[in-house]
Amino acid sequence: MSRVFNFSAGPAALPLEVLETIRNDIPDWQGTGMSVMEVSHRSKEFVELAERSEANLRSLLNVPDDYSVLFPQGGATMQMAMAPLNLTRPGDAVDYVVTGSWGKKAAGEARKFCAVNVAADASDRNFTYIPEESGWARSENASYLHYTSNETIAGVQFHYVPAGDVPLVVDMSSDILSRPIDVTRFGAIYAGAQKNIGPAGITLVIVRNDLLDRARPDNAHLMTWKSYAESGSMTNTPPTFAWYVADLVFQHLKANGGVESVAEVNRRKAEKLYAAIDASEFFSNPVDPVCRSVMNVPFILADASLDGKFLEEAKAVGLVNLKGHRSVGGMRASIYNAVSEAAVEALIGFMAEFERING
Ligand SMILES: Cc1ncc(COP(=O)(O)O)c(C=O)c1O
Repeated sequence: MSRVFNFSAGPAALPLEVLETIRNDIPDWQGTGMSVMEVSHRSKEFVELAERSEANLRSLLNVPDDYSVLFPQGGATMQMAMAPLNLTRPGDAVDYVVTGSWGKKAAGEARKFCAVNVAADASDRNFTYIPEESGWARSENASYLHYTSNETIAGVQFHYVPAGDVPLVVDMSSDILSRPIDVTRFGAIYAGAQKNIGPAGITLVIVRNDLLDRARPDNAHLMTWKSYAESGSMTNTPPTFAWYVADLVFQHLKANGGVESVAEVNRRKAEKLYAAIDASEFFSNPVDPVCRSVMNVPFILADASLDGKFLEEAKAVGLVNLKGHRSVGGMRASIYNAVSEAAVEALIGFMAEFERING
């Protein structure tokens, strides 16, 4: 078997131990004589899985009892519509802080359903910074404030939680479970799974229970958070295989010291990589150091004509998926929970060698 170091932004690397468990489980999951893909979501074994995964997620993120944990399908993109559909009526004001492409997309989606005020927008500097919170133009009567805790494409991350009394709705797709959070600060948190949770196909939503009654009466059943809260996320057939993998990832994270431990490793990985970039004459990262992402590290080469060579040679030594997003170019190393410190060290070593030869 030959495994590469996978720096993909998502779908992204999964822990090898989890993959090995899946391999062993496939023909006969929990003595059922079937794979998990073949059992009913109403079976005793699957209902136990659902309950265990929720309990583990609650303990990993310290989710209080007055919050519901939901596992819908549809990814983070569907939540960009579900947030306004569950929290506003037509014409209601909502504030959006746009620090990258995902926040911009979320604001665009919400605009179809309610009155979006863009309270801050970092597009003037190519999404490389977070505008000072004191300068945000917030509405008087917003139903919520939405922001993206980690912008996966430009590599911009909030290292604080914004202030204020209105419910905060946050897209945590690319930094959920990478560090401890205080759930009580948020009205709703949503995240696509395919970075730190598991395979694409399942979504995590954590929502304060008192907000569940704000949905539009004409909202589709499948788009209503409350329907998931009341049915154990079985509003319809859930994505059983993705949920099964997420359950294994949560167990793996718990067994490895939880979010606090992984946060420490994540911090070290990012520090080493940014230090190497900053020390180099050849590589650079354009993001304001106060909001650099611990999860997604974009970097550009001094000579863009070497991009192809860099990617090809990196791949030849087992460092894959380093191409930056097409909207920013250059490179991006996504260093989620399952990307080891050894992977980051191998990348740093390769970069130094590449600079020595080509710089
Ligand atoms: C921050 C963020 N939000 C939203 C999305 C879109 O997620 P999905 O493809 O699960 O809808 C992504 C990309 O995966 C992302 O990185």
